[in-house]
Amino acid sequence: MFKTIIEPFKIKSVEPIYMTTEEQRKKLIKEAHYNPFLLHSRDVIIDMLTDSGTSAMSSQQWAGIMQGDESYAGASSFLKLEKEIQDLTGYPHVLPTHQGRAAERILYSYLGGKGKIFISNTHFDTTRANIEFSGAEAIDIPTPAAKDHDSEFHFKGNIDLEKLEEYLKTSAKQIGAVIQTVTNNSGGGQPVSMENTKQASALCKKYGVLFVIDCCRIAENSYFIRHYEKGYENYSYRDIAKEMFSLADGGVMSAKKDALVNIGGFLALKDQVLAEACTNLLIITEGFVTYGGLAGRDMEAMAIGLREVFEDDYLTYRITSTKYLGEHIRKAGIPVIYPIGGHAVYVDAGLMYPHIPANQYPGQTLVCELYKVGGIRAVEIGSVMFGKYDEKGELIPAPVELVRLAIPRRVYTQSHIDYVIEVFEHLKDNVKSAKGMKIVKEPKFLRHFTAHFEEVS
Ligand code: F0G
Repeated sequence: MFKTIIEPFKIKSVEPIYMTTEEQRKKLIKEAHYNPFLLHSRDVIIDMLTDSGTSAMSSQQWAGIMQGDESYAGASSFLKLEKEIQDLTGYPHVLPTHQGRAAERILYSYLGGKGKIFISNTHFDTTRANIEFSGAEAIDIPTPAAKDHDSEFHFKGNIDLEKLEEYLKTSAKQIGAVIQTVTNNSGGGQPVSMENTKQASALCKKYGVLFVIDCCRIAENSYFIRHYEKGYENYSYRDIAKEMFSLADGGVMSAKKDALVNIGGFLALKDQVLAEACTNLLIITEGFVTYGGLAGRDMEAMAIGLREVFEDDYLTYRITSTKYLGEHIRKAGIPVIYPIGGHAVYVDAGLMYPHIPANQYPGQTLVCELYKVGGIRAVEIGSVMFGKYDEKGELIPAPVELVRLAIPRRVYTQSHIDYVIEVFEHLKDNVKSAKGMKIVKEPKFLRHFTAHFEEVS
């Protein structure tokens, strides 16, 4: 009936946001070599760099922190977390890790190696990096529907089932695992349907290949299934997630997303032999089986967060506020990936700045404009992040020049988001004055984190 989104929480503890002027920010971004990763967070007004590890914890979670059992072995905090994850996933073996990529490293270094391939709707960067580091190959097969950024289809995070079957038919023995990333972060934060996951699961079973869920945003994904997939209207979000886990052999989670904590992760597995092999690696690289890379207090907070995240009011607020941002900037004429996903809004900077060619990085232009005009920090996920060079040193651009506006969980209110919308309206009116960027210094790997840029005059 009413259009204002009411955040389903009250604020008990606050953190200051330091205001800056446009003049100051122009100087600050120049000093940061036009790379927002090099800014100090104190100089940022609204930080949309990532939704990872940036959640505000609840008073229940903070209370849990005080009850953390810091014992090296057999900590009650681990037993509580283990029970929670077993109940949610249905998998008996739970390995705590300090964050998602640690779980990835353990699982994929064991399953990977030269000659192996991994197939996913889209591998997240760290997933791909861990697979490739093992010597294996990571292949993305998103649904062809994902290419159309304007259609109303809701499950653009799906895996391409036809291609999956082809790979399974021809190369099942080589496949280390099939990974369904839920939601599909690198594919526009788009959700994955239960039907698609059921079919992918059935195919993997038929060909005897391990099926894993990268479940770091599975609660957000459950929201989309309940609201947009037939047959799930009366399910609880948690039961939807449980059903999805039941289709797979294991889950890899960065708890920094949908477990509403600032650090944490886990690997959960059905198979005992695989779990034992991974446990050996866990002990060598993360820590003993009952803490992994975590403090007892972290495990308490995770156990509580994993429950809270499935609450109806929370998920309604979470997904409708992301949609609110996306719909409003779209209405203002900003090209976005549509429908809006769960944790972020993805802007197509290539379309927004048609006068800036890919080799002048329109996404980097947009992240710098957002900062200069509004003190907003976002991340480029276009040719700075994914571009490669050919033998002649010419840029091979990314397929799309995206900028991601990720929304930290329970951190910003509707007025913060309204401010972001206003900044976009301003940028839309000043598109022509935006300048391209050139890279003046870059490292060999993961250049987006540390590269230096200058404005093209
Ligand atoms: N899988 C997905 C889908 C992710 O989005 C991330 C992290 C990871 C795995 C790795 O987890 O950071 O705990 O090691 N995504 C963050 C982001 C970094 O900004 O999207 P991690």
